[in-house]
Formats: sequence, C-alpha cells, structure tokens
Amino acid sequence: MADPFRSITLEEAGSTNTEAFKRASAGEAGPLWIVARRQTQGRGRSGRRWASEPGNLYASLLQRMNCPQAVVHQLSLLAGVAVVEAIATAAGRPVAGLRLKWPNDVLIDAAKCAGILPESQLGGGGLEVVAVIGIGVNLTSHPTDLGRAATDLTHHGATVTPDAMLAALATCMRSWLDIWDCGRGFEQVRVAWLAHAGAVGESLSVDTGRERISGTFVDLDQGGALILRDAQGKERKLTFGDVTLAGVLPKDGA
Ligand code: BTN
Repeated sequence: MADPFRSITLEEAGSTNTEAFKRASAGEAGPLWIVARRQTQGRGRSGRRWASEPGNLYASLLQRMNCPQAVVHQLSLLAGVAVVEAIATAAGRPVAGLRLKWPNDVLIDAAKCAGILPESQLGGGGLEVVAVIGIGVNLTSHPTDLGRAATDLTHHGATVTPDAMLAALATCMRSWLDIWDCGRGFEQVRVAWLAHAGAVGESLSVDTGRERISGTFVDLDQGGALILRDAQGKERKLTFGDVTLAGVLPKDGA
C-alpha cells in the first residue's frame, strides 16, 4: 500500500496546487503532500491571491480516488475538520475561538487563520478523480490584503513550525479520508463539521456571485450544502458562496 504520509518540500513553488496537478499529469500516483516554504503565485478561492511568505504552511495533498464526482465537493468540509483538529494537535492545546465557517474557512474568533482550496480533475480512465487539496495555515504571519480580518497562530500564543503542522495535518487528513470513504461516511464528517462551526441561529450573509442572501444558519444538509433561513423566513439551500458572519463586514474587494 502507498505511504499516505509521503511528502516533498520545495524551497519555492508558484502554487503547490498547480505543482501537484503538474506532477499528476507526469504520472505521479499519489498520495503525495507537496509543501513549499514560500509560494510566488499562491492561489485562494474565487481567483484571489494567497500571500505566501516563509514561516507559514503551504501544502497540497495529491490524492487519486475512485469516487463519484458528485461527492468530491465534500472534501472541502472534510479538510476543514482535519485542519481544525490538526491545529489543536500541533499547538499542543485547544486554541480558544478556533472554528469553521462554511464551506471551509478556518477562523480564530472572526479572523481567518487558514484557507483551503480543493480542486479536482477527471483522471485518465474510468471513475478516477485526481483531487488536490491545497491548505494554507497562518503560523507566524497573516496576509493583510485578504479583504477581511486575518490572524496567525503566533498571535494567539501558539508556536508551531510548518513541519509540525504538516505532520499533524497529514495524520488528520488521512484519518478523515478513511472515515469519509468516498462519501459513505459523510454523516460523521458532517457531525464533526457542525461541532466546530457556529451555532444554529447565527446571523450571516452569503454572496453567491449572483446575489447576497442574509439570514440565519440552520444546518448542513446530508450532502454538505448550507441551509440558511432568509429574511423572509424561507429556507435556502446553497452549494456555493462566500459567507460573511454578522457584524464582520467585508472590506472593499472582498
Ligand atoms: C482560500 O482562499 O481560503 C484558500 C487558500 C488556499 C491557500 C493554499 S496555500 C497551499 C495551496 N496552494 C495554493 O496556491 N493555494 C493553496
């Protein structure tokens, strides 16, 4: 069986996600963690840039899987749970205020301390999906150009090196990928995600790209969609969007 913890560390990469897809095209079987000490073209969600100075963790897991395409988006929630657990493990103690915001932002209080960029392509044959789960964890510094509040672990008194963070993350990701089992174990992921997220009834607004919907958090559905009660009292189910928590207005450009 392939070593699930195999990793390579590059002094510099454009983007570890891009590097992972390049290696997959060249025949890399995975699983493989690709880590860069710094990125010159770090990518965030929705085409945003991800500032990537040395000292933080920039890592992508290349994982081939024979899973139905319809469940691949659940990797996003799974990775969020793994990151929250890995941060607590690597910090050696619970980090107050550490929580998830749908779909996979990792916050300390209302400030972002880690981001996840899951991407996938169809593999060469049959059902194979080539998944690349990119994860950035702010350990010693945080970007100031995100358009919203950000923070890092040092700021909260936790000293964690990129290598220690990767070790904890690789263990948590492996264990949650096994539980998830191509979606058959998603209910456990969902329950864990909810345990790390805000409370039912929390006010938030979601920018879907077409509209901004304000409402209150109701639940995650059985597939991982966000269920929100809008201002008219109607339940809305969302599979894509940028969530802003109430009282945390995005700055220009967010
Ligand atoms: C987000 O916008 O929240 C997602 C940020 C994801 C950043 C990580 S850093 C490692 C990997 N390589 C990238 O270019 N992006 C992801």
